[in-house]
Amino acid sequence: MIPEEGTQSGKLEFAQMNDQSKADPIILDWDADKIAKFGSEPLKFKHRAHLSPLFEDDRLARLIEQAPRENYYVNTVDIAPDGSRRRREGEFGGLSGLEVLNAVKSGSIWVMLLYPDQTDSGYAKLLEEIYSEIHEHVPSLKILKKKISILISSPNIPVFYHCDLAGQTLWQVRGQKTAYVYPNKEPYLAQPNLERITLGEAHEISLPYDPDWDKDAKVFTIEPGDMLHWQLNAPHRIENGPCLNISFTTEHVTPSVRRNFVVNYGNGILRRVGGWQDLPRDTTGTTYWTRLATMAAARAMKLQRGRGQKFHVDFKVDPEAKGGYRDIAPYVFEK
Ligand SMILES: [Fe+2]
Repeated sequence: MIPEEGTQSGKLEFAQMNDQSKADPIILDWDADKIAKFGSEPLKFKHRAHLSPLFEDDRLARLIEQAPRENYYVNTVDIAPDGSRRRREGEFGGLSGLEVLNAVKSGSIWVMLLYPDQTDSGYAKLLEEIYSEIHEHVPSLKILKKKISILISSPNIPVFYHCDLAGQTLWQVRGQKTAYVYPNKEPYLAQPNLERITLGEAHEISLPYDPDWDKDAKVFTIEPGDMLHWQLNAPHRIENGPCLNISFTTEHVTPSVRRNFVVNYGNGILRRVGGWQDLPRDTTGTTYWTRLATMAAARAMKLQRGRGQKFHVDFKVDPEAKGGYRDIAPYVFEK
């Protein structure tokens, strides 16, 4: 069974890590070039977070067991003969954390643990330390919000082409994966598509993808101890290697990220209501303030319902079953 170390142990581990952090930081290879390019193009860093006991099986298993239902996803994907995909939502179904990990190791599923820092303070300390180091090197980056999530993926599971709305870093802990990062502009990211994601009308993985764009992607094969960061909204997709993959992501919101969100949201409303096409995207001046007013008005009038947070759960994790899961009677889970 999983040892009852509780959050106190997490405090100890990262207090020890933090004591060393000035001399022995988490991110290992800052240089002037990376500092200058941070946030404007894809970058690869070396880190040592993968050595932390936070990512050992017992610790992850305890997180899985303690995760409130609204703080985890477990998914698989059905791929039809015509290539169309259907992402499926599942549940842990009362298994122990180690049983869930075993199902992921040999199956075709992935688990995302949200807000592990709310369950175990060791992850909160890791998140604090990471952003403290980033801010030390890139002081212009004013972090308003930050978030950590853990991804545990079966061998060869793909992460489909998508973009995220906040600043992103991807930290490899175990296994090996290849990340393709595309420019954050047309045709790789059509503005109306980004607006629909911002408005909550479309899922991030709804972005159209053309394999021909791979020639324009920056491609990184990452191993334990590698971290990637890329420019805001840059579309990306991942090919997991033939092994269990454990990674975590950190996300951040800065004033610039927030202003981009407001402009994309306002433009999405204006495009829909007024049919405008070439909408400016300035994040300052009149453009920004009219988008902020448009967003506020749309929210006040409840113009925007979004895609909601309803999940149709139709499988449960099962380490004994093919793929690591079995079908159950479908039900709707609402966040
Ligand atoms: Fe992503």
